[in-house]
Amino acid sequence: MGKLVVVSNRLPPLPEGRGASSRAQEVGGLVSALLGALDSGGGGVWFGWSGRPGQSGRGAAVSWEHGKNCILGFDLSDREIEGYYNGFCNRALWPLLHSFQGRVRLSRSEERLYRQVNARFAQRLMPHLEPEDTLWVHDYHLILLGRELRRLGYGGRIGFFLHVPFPSYNTWQILPDPEGFLTAMMEYSLVGFHTRTYRDNYIYTAQRLLGASWDGATLASEGRRQRLGIFPIGVEPARFGPRAPAPEGRRRRGLLGEAGHRRIILGVDRLDYTKGIPHRIQAFATLLRAHPGYRREAIMFQICAPSRTRVPEYIEQKRTVETLVGQVNGEFADHDWVPVRYLYRSYPQERLTLFYRDAHVCLVTPLRDGMNLVAKEFIASQDPEDPGVLVLSRFTGAAEEMTEAVLVNPYLPEDVADGIHEALSLPLGERVERHRRLMEKITRHSSEWWFKAFLAELAAA
Ligand code: F6P
Repeated sequence: MGKLVVVSNRLPPLPEGRGASSRAQEVGGLVSALLGALDSGGGGVWFGWSGRPGQSGRGAAVSWEHGKNCILGFDLSDREIEGYYNGFCNRALWPLLHSFQGRVRLSRSEERLYRQVNARFAQRLMPHLEPEDTLWVHDYHLILLGRELRRLGYGGRIGFFLHVPFPSYNTWQILPDPEGFLTAMMEYSLVGFHTRTYRDNYIYTAQRLLGASWDGATLASEGRRQRLGIFPIGVEPARFGPRAPAPEGRRRRGLLGEAGHRRIILGVDRLDYTKGIPHRIQAFATLLRAHPGYRREAIMFQICAPSRTRVPEYIEQKRTVETLVGQVNGEFADHDWVPVRYLYRSYPQERLTLFYRDAHVCLVTPLRDGMNLVAKEFIASQDPEDPGVLVLSRFTGAAEEMTEAVLVNPYLPEDVADGIHEALSLPLGERVERHRRLMEKITRHSSEWWFKAFLAELAAA
């Protein structure tokens, strides 16, 4: 039996002193979910971008161990980081796949760099591959990698998982080469999606653009056949429950020390325009206007982890959020109460778990989100006998499963404000019952389940 080879743009953090910037240490949901799952499955080889900026551009390799995994990272030049990662990945594909058509910025030279970097991933990877290996490629940074590997002669099975939504047929066509990108995606033996909606968008787009046929399990087009599957990604509930590791001593403090007797409303996001953070702050202000009883009694903690800090749209979003926090606090704050606490930093998992436990309500209200693991982490962290309540956007992948959350439309401030009010008013019995049912779901679809289900399907493909 061959080895498991995982490929993703982002890798687990480089050990200190190996040229990592603090930026490179913010690894995001894909890496956290995969790390836990890979360790439970015996580990493998994990290949991707080292995260080191501005190295030689000749793709120097760096390797390190992380848990049971051997990580192989290669460097990108400044030009590649700018055109491939900051450019085509984050200014074209990211908004397009999340259906933010108005934010899509296309450029031929950035598209070229995206193609080049995908081809270079293939060249760098090829010497490490054997035909019996299982190869699993992740996310929108590497849509073309399967085809590049086929061009170099790799004939083994290759799986691909899309961690973000697949958009509608019309939106996909905003790409400079929609047929070409889709034909390249057809080179994967199995493509996995979080939800049925994303899979169905993909099938419809392939039928319309490529004349593909779908028999309920296999998509076929011009001699290529590929399996499709729905694998909602999850978390490892045990990492968050009552026996989860806690920070030591003084660092044990959660949010209660700051909030006192107040009702705590918590948001935890990467600072990204897809997360709807300004809409959420407006919604909280709407709540304070509509229900003055919450003034002094409620406090919103909004944690924004720095993300893609060199991309103009993210710089602008930070400004928008900070201006709005200032306005809302200016309107409502008094000498003994500040309604919105804005924290522009990331926290380690153990600390977040404490924050989740202290929160009465977690606001997960993206305008669009492939899945959203904060929703699942929050539920997994709760005390089952006195749980907090999740207020969840209908436009997250998580909402397709987590129907016992208070579901809201994030575009409508009154709806989110009503959702917060409802969440804060639910009687204990109702909170316990909703939490129990949500726990059942996230336990069934854990990250270990996701990992094993995908690989089992790939083995059968
Ligand atoms: O959801 C897609 C994703 O690629 C996840 O890995 C992660 O949550 C986030 O985006 C991280 O983005 P980046 O690698 O650009 O920091």
